[in-house]
Amino acid sequence: MARKFFVGGNFKMNGSKASIKEIVEQLNAADIPDSAEVVISPPALYVHWAEKHLTNDKVKIAAQNAFPKASGAYTGEISASQIKDVGADWVILGHSERRTIIKESDEFVAEKTVHALENDLGVILCIGELLEERQNGETVEVCTRQLKPVVEAVKDWSKIVVAYEPVWAIGTGLAATPEDAQETHAAIRKYLSEKIGEQADGVRILYGGSVNGKNAHTFNDCPDIDGYLVGGASLKPEFLDIIKSRS
Ligand code: G3P
Repeated sequence: MARKFFVGGNFKMNGSKASIKEIVEQLNAADIPDSAEVVISPPALYVHWAEKHLTNDKVKIAAQNAFPKASGAYTGEISASQIKDVGADWVILGHSERRTIIKESDEFVAEKTVHALENDLGVILCIGELLEERQNGETVEVCTRQLKPVVEAVKDWSKIVVAYEPVWAIGTGLAATPEDAQETHAAIRKYLSEKIGEQADGVRILYGGSVNGKNAHTFNDCPDIDGYLVGGASLKPEFLDIIKSRS
């Protein structure tokens, strides 16, 4: 099954009104190939701001998190329906920075995934192992453990994009090799096909971790790498090189 190339830009806790407007304006002016689906994810405070300035309909917006309740006494949280209300179509869930720093459990990430899908958001579901887990040969085990509560709870995977982000590659400048990444992506797809059947063929699996304008094309021949979730480089003009890396 043909899977459309997907590039996400996770701004994390970076940016200001001025810098986010500048990035959005660069994307407005960019010649984005029809073959690419592009989603940018500013901090929650700037989702509406980005939406207000975005005129290129090839680019969509994601929030970086969502709480699994519609509304109520949850100080500091934002809901999936609020994210939709300000014009975003996607949400990133389960990023390793939230799993490790905020201590989000696999089950909580699954609960959030279900809630976001019920509210018609697409979900960029992040998984990936720590360096120590990789050194212990536990990469696939960790990824499947993180996916398990989601496969148990979600029947329709058409609005989920999985992002495999080995934690040791995030922000380090040391991207996984195409061979290593492909091997893990293939194992993730195999696990998904065992659990969700043929739908697994249509699930985009992104690689994330030190992807930049120079190395993005090196993953082009990896059959199970369907795009990238980009951190640091999504804040720079080279983000466009990544978007164009398969065209
Ligand atoms: O979600 C994207 C990410 O964690 C990768 O970050 O800066 O290594 O591209 P970076």
